[in-house]
Amino acid sequence: MKAQVARIMDSSITPPLPESMPQPAASIVGISKRFGKTSVLENISFDVAEGEALVLLGASGSGKTTILRIIAGLEQPYTGKIMLHGKEVTELPPRERGIGVIFQSYALFPKMTVEKNIGYGLRIRRRRRKEIKNTVNELLSLVQLEEHRKKYPSQLSGGQQQRVAIARTLAYKPEVLLFDEPFGALDAQTRVHLRREIRALLRKVNVPAIFITHDQEEALELGDRIAVINVGHIEQIGTPREVYNNPASEYVATFLGAANILEGTISRGHVVVGNAQMPARLLGDRFKEGQAVKLIFRPEDVLISKTQEFPTGHACLSSGVVEEISFVGAYERLRIRLEASSGACETSDTPFYLTTETPERSNAKPVICTRPKPETNAFRLRTGDRVFLGLSSFTVLPNDARTSATSQPIIKTSI
Ligand SMILES: Nc1ncnc2c1ncn2[C@@H]1O[C@H](COP(=O)(O)OP(=O)(O)O)[C@@H](O)[C@H]1O
Ligand SMILES: [Mg+2]
Repeated sequence: MKAQVARIMDSSITPPLPESMPQPAASIVGISKRFGKTSVLENISFDVAEGEALVLLGASGSGKTTILRIIAGLEQPYTGKIMLHGKEVTELPPRERGIGVIFQSYALFPKMTVEKNIGYGLRIRRRRRKEIKNTVNELLSLVQLEEHRKKYPSQLSGGQQQRVAIARTLAYKPEVLLFDEPFGALDAQTRVHLRREIRALLRKVNVPAIFITHDQEEALELGDRIAVINVGHIEQIGTPREVYNNPASEYVATFLGAANILEGTISRGHVVVGNAQMPARLLGDRFKEGQAVKLIFRPEDVLISKTQEFPTGHACLSSGVVEEISFVGAYERLRIRLEASSGACETSDTPFYLTTETPERSNAKPVICTRPKPETNAFRLRTGDRVFLGLSSFTVLPNDARTSATSQPIIKTSI
């Protein structure tokens, strides 16, 4: 079992690049960083493919900006190296790396017009006037600011200023773009609008990009892949779907989206949580009988039913009592307390297995579920109603120290 776990962990920490992308545009290899005696990054490794947008997602203080500063050459790593298109740049000064950095503050020159700002990098590089003019025109059209070319930064909205900053960076054709919370200073609507625009723009120019954000929605929408950072190390890296659907740890499951986590044990091909038991056909020999595990499922993976009958694709988890109903616009959110006794769904073949854990505590935990409109219209629920909960999908992780830190999902069951 150990070998298998190890293999899964290795392959997901440095996922193989698709064959169509032979050489990564950027490779970050074993970077660690200390400030004084404090270690802030531990053995960070990842690749960015040509044209790819990679998002570093993590809480404030997790080390995201430090990673970008090391890639840009503004900070030296304690160990590790940075490769750009196969060439090591760890020792090169920032200017010689061919990296463009875009910060939250646009840092535009206030006394220069939009077009002068965009052309600035080319003027100090002493490019020919004609070339500068052509590039500026191209970029103005790319970021759709042609009619604002003569304006000063103070005459532009935040979103427009950020577009100028991006055009100015693109002017000197960077090999990699780094964005540090680029939408942080903007209002919610502009953020969403601008991130879609920038995503489309990046696809057009095909420059690989690394984005930093602490905003999960932004990460899901912007990233071809997401690396979840937790206090200086990568918890998991994968496509938004992989990371959301197969969280490798409790941290990832709860940082990226909402998740219910119940403690249980393995018993005869089931995950037993209090009186409830979920058939987990994929268990195979990966878990030991009696092993402590965590059952993790998303609120939207719960189907509520008034009877124990569930459509195919769902397995009954337990009965419960509706404690709270909130209307959240697009869906209804329910808090349901699982019943500690008499709550189990009937199973035809298996008798009950009480866990050696504390069934009262784990089973009495409330579970959060969401119901989309068609379901809420089909049958209304009131607080105090007794219902059955079915799951369409869940993840099982070993319940040991590793799952709160780094570990990989051992099984993922879609029923
Ligand atoms: N120049 C510095 N000197 C000392 N500590 C620093 C310095 N820069 C960052 N740190 C510390 O490193 C950690 C990571 O910071 P940072 O990379 O800015 O995180 P994030 O961008 O994820 O919010 C924090 O604890 C921060 O206080
Ligand atoms: Mg930061």
